[in-house]
Amino acid sequence: MLNALKFSACGVCLLMFASFAAAVEQAKISPAAELVGAKRVLIIGHRGASAHAPENTLPSFEAAVKAKADMVELDYYHSADKVPVVMHDKDLDRTTDAGKVLGKYNIKLEDVTVADLKKVDAGKWFKTQFAGTKVPTLEEAFTVIQAGSMTLIERKGGDAATIVKMLDDKKLRGNVVVQAFDWKYIADCHKLAPDLALGCLGSKELGTKQIADAKQAGAAAVGWRHSDLTKENIAAAHAAGLKCWAYTVNDKKRGQQLIDVGIDGIITDDPGLMRELLK
Ligand code: G3P
Ligand code: CA
Repeated sequence: MLNALKFSACGVCLLMFASFAAAVEQAKISPAAELVGAKRVLIIGHRGASAHAPENTLPSFEAAVKAKADMVELDYYHSADKVPVVMHDKDLDRTTDAGKVLGKYNIKLEDVTVADLKKVDAGKWFKTQFAGTKVPTLEEAFTVIQAGSMTLIERKGGDAATIVKMLDDKKLRGNVVVQAFDWKYIADCHKLAPDLALGCLGSKELGTKQIADAKQAGAAAVGWRHSDLTKENIAAAHAAGLKCWAYTVNDKKRGQQLIDVGIDGIITDDPGLMRELLK
């Protein structure tokens, strides 16, 4: 009888311990959520450290990591063969020599295969020393950025299911932040991966409606055009539990003004320069 009692008490203890461990596991916050929620100003490299190296390329990401950017922002689309690839513009003309190499101008990134994309040069338009630089796939970008920082993935083209699957396959769901101007895409990401750290991008008015919509989409932050940000709308975002980041700030004076009115993150082409403000 006594043994049976001891045995069931032990079972209850084990059960309690297991549910406590499960609760602790559930409450664990991901590194991305922790970084987004940090009580300090984040310095975010825009398209890498694009003041110093060709935007959205591996040398640019390396430079941003070296400049100790808290996050490194990039833009992605899907290629014709459905691979997420990194570029800002819809077409290849501004940042590659595709016109010459592929024999056609105005080609849309989404109409080019990765094999063809790898034929073009994405560095020499910026400076000849970067000749030979390729357009990276998102996967290639991760290998550089995640080694020393965190990727702030901006979706320009492509669906939510593909990126969520890719992040899960690479076990990166808790180690990146995803943002977009298309808030339906953000809401789709949130539905598929409620624990993924998300940001809603915008410009012009940041008012009650925008703040409510960003919350509804599942965002933890809003990334807003810096010239539209004020002490009041930053405070309103904070009151709703949203962090507020400013893009794209390359002037130290403006960076300091934003810090003084409570900004949480500065997205900049020159993360090294902006970091000086925090010293
Ligand atoms: O991170 C926000 C910023 O990158 C949005 O503008 O045009 O540079 O992608 P854009
Ligand atoms: Ca961007």
